[in-house]
Amino acid sequence: MINIKTAKEIEKMRSAALISAKALELAGSMCVAGIDCYSIDEAVRKYIFSENAMPSFLDYNGYPKSCCISINDMVIHGIPSRDVVLKNGDIVSVDVGAKYEGYNGDNAYTFVVGGVSEEVRSFLSTAEDALFAGIECAVKGRRVGDISLAVQQVVERCNYGIIREFVGHGVGRQLHEEPEVPNFLDNVNFKGPRLAPGMVVAIEPMVSMGDGKVVRCADGWGIRTRDGSLAAHFEHTVLITDSKPVILTKL
Ligand code: MF3
Ligand code: CO
Repeated sequence: MINIKTAKEIEKMRSAALISAKALELAGSMCVAGIDCYSIDEAVRKYIFSENAMPSFLDYNGYPKSCCISINDMVIHGIPSRDVVLKNGDIVSVDVGAKYEGYNGDNAYTFVVGGVSEEVRSFLSTAEDALFAGIECAVKGRRVGDISLAVQQVVERCNYGIIREFVGHGVGRQLHEEPEVPNFLDNVNFKGPRLAPGMVVAIEPMVSMGDGKVVRCADGWGIRTRDGSLAAHFEHTVLITDSKPVILTKL
């Protein structure tokens, strides 16, 4: 069942999403050469608690930290560690959610440390464009598959690879609710559920410069590209309304 949020619930979602967005901004501001990922996670955790919220990921299925920090060929679920120090030219995907008064926000962004090549900049902007193309389709009366197709078309037009093993999702009291929001559509005749006002979805393209195939790290969490190519992850929590989509995690 897809939850339709009441006006009261949407206000709580708005607060949770705003805290999530500020936590992500804080993490991004710390992505400089020489810092270790544990320190970024600590700052994120402290910030979220200071807002009387809880890190949504902490203890989620046993996840040990407050955010995910995934560097270069790591796509998602990188566990922040003291041993991992950022260096110039790294691309750093930070994913963070906050739970406030029982409701979750969820967002992610791939930051750059120092400078990267034009080729990498173009890759990152395509991945972000794919997110926004998906968001534009988060409109009442359309279907989940319209979001999926829009994301896929932006990514594949540039010959980048979509990660298929992980998908976006509804978000609310639970971090992951129905519906699943894939970043691809295999059958245009099965576009999935219709979108309605009051639904909230996390749209989150995960994209690689290579073929999109992934492998799991030995820690059981981290997901890397199989071919070692760079990966990007952009995510917003989006409310479907009577008119335009509202990005709840926008600052
Ligand atoms: N951030 C993921 C998502 O966007 C969920 C992370 S779950 C955790 O859906 F276990 F890593 F915390
Ligand atoms: Co998510």
